[in-house]
Amino acid sequence: MKEKFIVKGLGGKKILSGKIKINGAKNAILPTMAASILFKDGFELNNIPNIEDVKRMSELLGCLGSEVSKKSENKYLINSKGLNKFDLDRKISEQMRASIILTGPLLARFGQVSFPVPGGCVIGARPIDFFVAGFKKMGAETKFKNDRYYISTKNKKLNGAKIFFKTPSVTATETFIMAGVLAKGKTILKNVALEPEIDNLINFLVSCGAKIKGGGTTTIEIVGGTLLEAKGKKYIAMPDRIETGSFLILGALCAKDLEITNCNPNDIDILIEILKDSGVPIKVGKTSIKIEKNDKINNSQFKGSGIKTKEYPGFPTDLQAPMVIFLTQTTGESLVFETIFEGRLNFIEDITRMGADIILLDPHRAIVRGPKDLRARELESPDIRAGLAFVIATILAKGESVINNIYLIDRGYERIEERLIKIGVDIKRISSEEI
Ligand code: EPU
Repeated sequence: MKEKFIVKGLGGKKILSGKIKINGAKNAILPTMAASILFKDGFELNNIPNIEDVKRMSELLGCLGSEVSKKSENKYLINSKGLNKFDLDRKISEQMRASIILTGPLLARFGQVSFPVPGGCVIGARPIDFFVAGFKKMGAETKFKNDRYYISTKNKKLNGAKIFFKTPSVTATETFIMAGVLAKGKTILKNVALEPEIDNLINFLVSCGAKIKGGGTTTIEIVGGTLLEAKGKKYIAMPDRIETGSFLILGALCAKDLEITNCNPNDIDILIEILKDSGVPIKVGKTSIKIEKNDKINNSQFKGSGIKTKEYPGFPTDLQAPMVIFLTQTTGESLVFETIFEGRLNFIEDITRMGADIILLDPHRAIVRGPKDLRARELESPDIRAGLAFVIATILAKGESVINNIYLIDRGYERIEERLIKIGVDIKRISSEEI
């Protein structure tokens, strides 16, 4: 069913107030669901939001023979004991890039896997060469036939290997950690990604018997062994740092007083530094962030020449789009340098049509000049994160906007409108029957 959001903007007024709670992190939950394949028994997952990507991952695992059930609100049970298929469903895999993380545990446990080129957000080329090359290093044979990769091992076992990533990759790091857990011997991963979601996965795996060293550093060593056992241990998803950062940017732009709760401020240090430097009155607690008496309009002065997206702890590419909206309201000129994905500045065209003064220099760089008032528009959500940036932009803008294609926002954020209404946003979800 097609749905859209109707947003009545505030026209630059900073009047939102109240509390907003942060959900569990999508990009930590998806690899942990995939990790169930490494287990002899099942386990419980907690703090799981009701988002489309969790549903797709559940379906994908279900097609393979795993059992995934929702125990209660935000609580899932997962058991891959009955898993007996090794071919990833084409339709679902083409909807979600994260399907690729299933390949590591499947290959490690059963010695074979086949999968189509994964789809997902259209934010750049998103190659999978690291995965194919890494599996080869671990002794697997790879074939590409009829639009599918077929990867298999000789003795149904991967061998430990030394793998160097030319660029730190989040899902490749997670995939090869999981592959290493059941591989023969030691796997050494170098130049790995440092995103906190990887630690969240490692910590759970280690608590269930995996031998993984070096989490949080650029080299990770895994000593392969037998199937893991949860023995009643529960996984608790870390708070979503991208959701935290996005609400913080929304608060900086549109809230008078806002408290973001159930979050981990340390995971978004860089954003907090930038916003504080720009004059946003932020108070950081242990698990909460407050914006207080944020009553001046367009008073932020962005210090520095701009933002550059980088691997953690640098500025997250997933917060780049919301940050561009912030920069449209700061005084002066800022350079936005998107170094990770070459398609992630495409949303800027729409923000320009809302009245922003942004020059796209090339697929990776844009100059934002502010402050500029934004006007309402009809928009099409292009991906999860730019979709949320559109929500922020339309709340900030003057007039009534429409955001179409909100399935993409639902992929990463649970019923965002209900949470926004509670802090004073005028936003409505309209289904196709009402259109
Ligand atoms: N890369 C390659 N070859 C590969 C894999 C990656 O060249 O085989 C390159 C990519 O093209 C990119 C760079 O490595 O330039 C880093 O990309 P990475 O592999 O880290 O991205 P990802 O693992 O596919 C995850 C998140 C993304 C997030 C990026 C960067 C998940 C499920 N996805 O993607 O999240 O943007 O890391 O932090 O964890 C989102 O949630 O909306 C989202 C897109």
